[in-house]
Amino acid sequence: MPGPILRPRRLRRNAAVRSLVAQTSLEPRHLVLPMFVREGTSAPVPIFSMPGVVQHSRDSARAAVAQAAEVGLGGVMLFGIPERKDATGTQAVDPHGILNVAIADAVAEVGDALVVMSDLCLDEFTDHGHCGVLDDRGEVDNDATLAMYAAVGVTQAEAGAHMLGASGMMDGQVGVIRQALDAAGHIDTAILAYAAKYSSAFYGPFREAVDSSLSGDRKTYQQDPANRREAVREALLDLEQGADIIMVKPALAYLDLVRDVRDAVDVPVAAYNISGEYAMLEAAAANGWIERERAIIELLTGIRRAGADIVLTYWATEVARLLPRWG
Ligand code: PBG
Repeated sequence: MPGPILRPRRLRRNAAVRSLVAQTSLEPRHLVLPMFVREGTSAPVPIFSMPGVVQHSRDSARAAVAQAAEVGLGGVMLFGIPERKDATGTQAVDPHGILNVAIADAVAEVGDALVVMSDLCLDEFTDHGHCGVLDDRGEVDNDATLAMYAAVGVTQAEAGAHMLGASGMMDGQVGVIRQALDAAGHIDTAILAYAAKYSSAFYGPFREAVDSSLSGDRKTYQQDPANRREAVREALLDLEQGADIIMVKPALAYLDLVRDVRDAVDVPVAAYNISGEYAMLEAAAANGWIERERAIIELLTGIRRAGADIVLTYWATEVARLLPRWG
């Protein structure tokens, strides 16, 4: 009996041919390292639920940013953990607040060697842990929050951030931040909009990472995991308001939306491989249930294949070191 004529296996027979036809690549420049910088600590503090990730001191953060540049990462995304929190998150607009000094440290360390991004939100800075300020009924007040975001954006730009990660999911946030930046002369400071951000259980470890004081949830502002259409709607709204890059978050349970958004917009698309995704894989690997490095590369490649130009991942520096030996 004659064998099959069409044999897709021909293009899989060895590493050389597989590499020749591989459609998706993973390069250090595609990766952004999220980093936590904690006020008032002189040594890095481990995060129990994210083995291998720490709350940095200012010094260790500088070193990590330098390393990120050295291995060729696309950028870092900085989060701050202040010693004092209050109802409106005033530490976020204090030029001496931890996130703002961490931005300045990072820029002083690496200049333009990589993109220094900062989280533009209030949840790390508010004593109630919400991403915005509350009204007198205790609800998150969208428009009052916008005024704060505008001020935070200008403060971060003044500290030297190249790109602001607007992650609070308030309606109209991108437009208000863009206007405030422009009015203050920061026309070149870019906005990475967390356009489609879902209310996810997979943020769990992050809440430990930033010492979150949230009780309750963010369901009135973050999206419902059941919904697909509104990811594109949110992305288009943010584009109209001046977003430079559109992000989808989380990544793994939302790869359909990464693809939807990639097909719907003409700007770069980012996806955030979040804390719970990191923790799941690390826990399985620690138990010997999964081949750690292979699984990491496969997962990040999958996010790229779904359509993400840029991937935020806690494995960024490690993966950048790993890639040249991979194949
Ligand atoms: C909010 C913010 C969150 C994350 C990044 N920015 C958490 C949340 O919305 O509760 C999550 C990141 C992660 O889980 O890795 N500013």
